Amino acid sequence: MSSFMTLGSTLPLLHVIGESTRRKRSSAPLPPGPPKRPLVGNLMLMGQDKGWEVFEKWSKELASDVISLTGLGQTVIILNSYSSAKSILERNNVSDRPQLLSMSELVGWKQSLIFHPFDDGWKLQRRYIHRGIGTRSALKQYDQLKEVVAAKFAKAIMEREDALDEHCHVFAGDLMLRISYGYDSKGYDPMIKMAEEVTDGASEFGAPGKWMVDVLPFLRYVPDWVPFTGWKRAVREHHSNLQKLVNTPYDWMRGEMDEGRAAPSFASKLLSEKDMTPEAASTVWATYAFLKMMCFHPEIQSRAQNEIDRVVGNDRLPLVSDMDTLPYVWACVLEALRWHIVLPLAVPHMSMEDNVCEGFMIPKGSVVLPNLWAISRDENEYPDAHTFNPERYLGDKPQRSPQDWVFGFGRRVCPGRLMAEESVFIVCATALATLHISRKMIDGVAVPIDLTQSAGLASHPTHFEYNLKPRSEQAKSLVFNAVMAS
Ligand code: HEM
Repeated sequence: MSSFMTLGSTLPLLHVIGESTRRKRSSAPLPPGPPKRPLVGNLMLMGQDKGWEVFEKWSKELASDVISLTGLGQTVIILNSYSSAKSILERNNVSDRPQLLSMSELVGWKQSLIFHPFDDGWKLQRRYIHRGIGTRSALKQYDQLKEVVAAKFAKAIMEREDALDEHCHVFAGDLMLRISYGYDSKGYDPMIKMAEEVTDGASEFGAPGKWMVDVLPFLRYVPDWVPFTGWKRAVREHHSNLQKLVNTPYDWMRGEMDEGRAAPSFASKLLSEKDMTPEAASTVWATYAFLKMMCFHPEIQSRAQNEIDRVVGNDRLPLVSDMDTLPYVWACVLEALRWHIVLPLAVPHMSMEDNVCEGFMIPKGSVVLPNLWAISRDENEYPDAHTFNPERYLGDKPQRSPQDWVFGFGRRVCPGRLMAEESVFIVCATALATLHISRKMIDGVAVPIDLTQSAGLASHPTHFEYNLKPRSEQAKSLVFNAVMAS
């Protein structure tokens, strides 16, 4: 997602500035849904905390993968299985994004690729991204950079073990800023903090039902002195943070170019593209979730470390090119991507025409949400789905790879997916090769680990207590030497 944004999914549920639902042209029924209240229909149900769990429950109760909610003329269609999400979202005409007045127009997210309407501008941006990072061969040029950033991550932990989430933010932000602008961060520096602030702000800002202006658009014209217009200040602040995030790295890069010392980067090749600040938060939380699960399952951690010791040895750090020869480590990464879904309802699509799919009517203007969380916990795809088990992707009959769905569907599928896979792999493999993570003990008793995830647009794993130590002196010097040599 663009501008370090991992906004999710329930965001436009309540108050979409879209076309309202009108079912005139087909007699096909809407997908089933929960009971409706007079006048407001299902409106009150649309923007609830952890909606993904509730939608999955309704889907089971209604015995239908595809369900719908309607209220005040808006239809929301929720796709609770891989097959329904694939068959419906792979239609071109479900590739638009709904627009929220507060987020899209007033704050300005509309310009970013993630919320961009499905038009020629969007197609052009996608083409640029595809050219830059959309294929394995294009990404190859960044292998060494990813390896250095992964070593920096391990070094930062060795120097300060108690700030894992901060290190995850630095790793992901650093990678994106280097690739996009050639900017080499100085740890948790102002540019990385700015990116984090915008992501957090956006997540909070876009919380469902948060802003009345999305329901009553005339409120945008109410003067600031009127009581209860504090939201206008919040909008202005978020707008200004977003502009800073878009402009600061770009202006920095232009300055470097003027001085003739700009490092080669994605944006320097595409000069006019200021909107390439790509998202990092999904990568942040995928990495954090991976380490959390390694901590929770020491036996899985040891098995992955044994594989690295056997294949890579102890004289060098893992490389991106080791991916194919470390199947168990890769299976752990896949399982972490399935286990913790950063965007449980992905990013909402919007139907641009009336569609009849799987016997149901999906009216023009409907918000269409793939329930990635429900897919991840689907017992038909993943028996014993609530257990973290990397072996499900190995052997003669591997289960479906989360790569098939965790990055979304159709023409809006995540354009950074290959980059995300390689960067999460290399940071996790480097961490496994050089660090040991274990449960925090107090008076000989392991501190419990809460395995739940947060509510919100972009969901993150809950905080956990751990010990992180270098695996050996040799591992330590490999990491320090790799960073020194970079
Ligand atoms: C583990 C990491 C990541 C995950 C799980 C993830 C997941 C997703 C998902 C679910 C979507 C919505 C797809 C849909 O609408 O059907 C998406 C969109 C997007 N992602 Fe990612 N993503 C990740 C990393 C990245 C990275 C590293 C980048 C940039 C380099 C990126 C850039 C984007 C963009 C620009 C979009 C919007 C595409 C559009 O609307 O056309 N993502 N991502």
